Amino acid sequence: MPVNAFLTSLPMKYLTLLAAALSVAQAAPPNHTTLSECLVDAQVPSLGPCSTGWNQTIIPYNLRANYTPVLLAIPKTVNHVSAAVKCAKAYGAKVQARGGGHSYAAMGLGGTDGSFIIDMEKFKSISLYNNIATVGAGVRLGNLATYLYSSGKRALPHGLCPGVGIGGHALHGGFGMTSRMWGTTLDNIVEMQVVLADGSVAITSASQNSNLFWALRGAGSSYGIVTYFKFATKSAPTVATYFQYQYYSPSIDIKTKTILAMQEFGKAMAPKELALRIFFSNDTFQVYGVYWGPKTKWEKAIAPLLTHLPIAGRVSSVPGQEMEWLPTLVQLNNGGQLTQPLSYNMHDTFFAKSIVTPGMGHLGEATLKNFFTYLATDGQKAPVNWWVMYDLYGGAGSMISAPTLSDTAYAHRDSLFTIQIFSTPPGQAPPYPESGYSFVDGIVDSITKYQNETIFKAYTNYIDHTLTKEQAWDLYYGQEQMVKLNKVKDAVDPTRVFWNPQAIRA
Ligand SMILES: Cc1cc2nc3c(=O)[nH]c(=O)nc-3n(C[C@H](O)[C@H](O)[C@H](O)COP(=O)(O)OP(=O)(O)OC[C@H]3O[C@@H](n4cnc5c(N)ncnc54)[C@H](O)[C@@H]3O)c2cc1C
Ligand SMILES: *[C@@H]1O[C@H](CO)[C@@H](O)[C@H](O)[C@H]1NC(C)=O
Ligand SMILES: *[C@@H]1O[C@H](CO)[C@@H](O)[C@H](O)[C@H]1NC(C)=O
Ligand SMILES: *[C@@H]1O[C@H](CO)[C@@H](O)[C@H](O)[C@H]1NC(C)=O
Ligand SMILES: *[C@@H]1O[C@H](CO)[C@@H](O)[C@H](O)[C@H]1NC(C)=O
Repeated sequence: MPVNAFLTSLPMKYLTLLAAALSVAQAAPPNHTTLSECLVDAQVPSLGPCSTGWNQTIIPYNLRANYTPVLLAIPKTVNHVSAAVKCAKAYGAKVQARGGGHSYAAMGLGGTDGSFIIDMEKFKSISLYNNIATVGAGVRLGNLATYLYSSGKRALPHGLCPGVGIGGHALHGGFGMTSRMWGTTLDNIVEMQVVLADGSVAITSASQNSNLFWALRGAGSSYGIVTYFKFATKSAPTVATYFQYQYYSPSIDIKTKTILAMQEFGKAMAPKELALRIFFSNDTFQVYGVYWGPKTKWEKAIAPLLTHLPIAGRVSSVPGQEMEWLPTLVQLNNGGQLTQPLSYNMHDTFFAKSIVTPGMGHLGEATLKNFFTYLATDGQKAPVNWWVMYDLYGGAGSMISAPTLSDTAYAHRDSLFTIQIFSTPPGQAPPYPESGYSFVDGIVDSITKYQNETIFKAYTNYIDHTLTKEQAWDLYYGQEQMVKLNKVKDAVDPTRVFWNPQAIRA
């Protein structure tokens, strides 16, 4: 039946109602036919490939990982974020947030071409009330540390590189030199506001949307766009003791014994106030760290390590130097300033992998010799410059090990060490050579394939694009966490709006 005939067959009072309904319906239909028009209609600021500044805006921190998104929204309010996600859902676009843009694999640009990016750079506010910090998702770590200290000598545990964004960092772990004492960054989150796949805005905390709260703390990029975090801050230590030992031309035997000594010490003797790292490259080998207390206490804490650490070629290059909180952070950043400009524009070119050692089970002497032999042979003639960072995470009393798998999605609670293997092409500029990948794989294999009875894992914040999604799920989360991560994903994002190549349910 034609509409007019249908209308004339109705009594008058229904006709007026229907006419009113039709006029509403005529005003309502969306006049946009693309994602871009949808954003314009919703008044969400955005950039597309024809916009001025586009090319500059999509340059990743890691110049090795270039991807071109379809569009980039730059919301200023939570309503903008919500409208942007609704548009993405309506047009079937895959969404990733960009925080500080420091993802190793440029997941903040989608980790592949053709994603829709919601850049959180305008969410820069920080405030502190009753020792709870409310932190916008676009804040960088150096600015956060500076603000917290200047507003009442407060602090949080987080990484050392001041340009890293709180968004990606806090949602996937966040290890820093205070983490054995205070946990990872995500362990200090008490609340988040998050925009979900249907555009709705939710508050998550231990008491509200607690499954989502669990999943966001470890696998956040798969579940929504966090607009702000609330953190329970700590009182910054009044004094820290920085120390460093340098080894000159250490043999494979000395290097092996150094790590073995650190493992034994780390398991049961390292107090939680002690951060300890071995850093080595083709031409350096050093042990350094910080004790978050006075030098007299550091001397007692470090003594059991020193009795086992090889002496040959060892020089105490910084024999315990007392410092205040912010100068310690500057020292750990090799002197680089903490505050970062709004127009942040730093870059590097690199490929990295990580190994998380399980439990107190550690690397055997033969494995370590195999590892250092590879570095002394293939490492000398490598096509890339490389370094290895060997960080103490766990051990008796470590606060990283205190929570359980059911507390947060972060999966490496019982791990003693996390090892990062980092490589850059000569000159630190692209292109990254293809042969660099197999060299770095070789370093990892010299441990994991050699000691194959041990189940090694990897750290999500050092995300490795060469893993398949199945490998990534296993290495970053493991079977037990994946069951629940999949369930929560199905409940809050059934159509997989939030996606990257290694996202949950990718
Ligand atoms: C120079 C350098 C030093 C580093 N040092 C450390 C360190 O000391 N300790 C450590 O643990 N890690 C360290 N990292 C790793 C760092 O923690 C991760 O790369 C982190 O994920 C970066 O966060 P981002 O916001 O800067 O990155 P982005 O690339 O913007 O984001 C990373 C991921 O998080 C998602 N994401 C970002 N913001 C949000 C949000 N608001 N809501 C939802 N998802 C979001 C993105 O979609 C993406 O998937 C370092 C990295 C670099 C490059
Ligand atoms: C769509 O319509 C709204 C109001 O009806 C108008 O403000 C907007 O400019 C239109 N958008 C486009 C892309 O035509
Ligand atoms: C942006 O980059 C593309 C591809 O490299 C290039 O074709 C285009 O001319 C550039 N646009 C501007 C404004 O620089
Ligand atoms: C490693 O050091 C050796 C000896 O100093 C040098 O010959 C070699 O070029 C270096 N290799 C790399 C990859 O830096
Ligand atoms: C470990 O490697 C050895 C030698 O290659 C092999 O025989 C064994 O099956 C491997 N074990 C596991 C658990 O993969």
